Amino acid sequence: MQTQTLRTIAGIVNSVETLEGAGFLVRRPFPKSSFSAFDPFLLLDELGPIQLKPGQAKGAPDHPHRGFETVSYILDGRLEHKDSEGHAGLLNPGDVQWMTAGAGVVHSEMPEAEFTRTGGRLHGIQLWVNLPQQDKMIAPRYQEIPAAQIPVAQTEDGSVRVRVIAGEALGAKAVIETRTPIIYLHFTLQPGATIAQPVPRAYNAFAYVLDGSGLFGAEQEQGEDGQMVIFTQDGEEVTIANSAEAQQPLDLLLIAGVPLNEPVVRYGPFVMNSEAEIIQAIDDYQNGRMGRIHV
Ligand code: CO
Repeated sequence: MQTQTLRTIAGIVNSVETLEGAGFLVRRPFPKSSFSAFDPFLLLDELGPIQLKPGQAKGAPDHPHRGFETVSYILDGRLEHKDSEGHAGLLNPGDVQWMTAGAGVVHSEMPEAEFTRTGGRLHGIQLWVNLPQQDKMIAPRYQEIPAAQIPVAQTEDGSVRVRVIAGEALGAKAVIETRTPIIYLHFTLQPGATIAQPVPRAYNAFAYVLDGSGLFGAEQEQGEDGQMVIFTQDGEEVTIANSAEAQQPLDLLLIAGVPLNEPVVRYGPFVMNSEAEIIQAIDDYQNGRMGRIHV
């Protein structure tokens, strides 16, 4: 058997806290002034975890997107989604919505009314995946996968569990289709557990720690809750371990994609390849050509 080369760590990125939408707090490793994107990824936001009082939940009212995909993964709480195509849906814990905005949608992402009334724990992840130039103006598409349909796998001893949102892990294959090759895995490692996940060299890869603290890469560098761990492209396998002395499970996302290597011009919710395309996007939005939400 041929031995795989283990990737090393290129760096650890701390999240910044920022207010989004109508004023909800997110932790964001990127984009920020010193780190604008990680090709093909444009943004990662962790919403919460936060314990909300009754009436306290806030969301993101009507706003557009063009030129990329937004991937929402709900861990706790309930979010409601409505858009300009008349599409509406409710996201429950464990559900994933992979929205290909393409040429454009106007949508709202709000806590569900009943959840807002009662309050409760809210925790979610949003990832922005860039689209290649040839796909930026395709028709919008939704893949809404309820928690029960997200493939789950675990090691024989049960010390590692993975939810496979995109790509493949521990023999389980994702049901979500991606425009370019993407790996999106949610791993939970018990104390003392280790994983070795194949990630082809062509992929840019990072881990984001949701809870606990882990040892990453060939050099076993430490990464904690709220940190993004960037792997170099120097191997075909990434290793992650939870120390045997750890007091809690390690919960993390492992995300990887093949870089597009195309010019990125971004302006808020529009991500295109040129300034002219951004000006066009603003004009299309302002003149209602991305549609409006009809309540
Ligand atoms: Co949005």
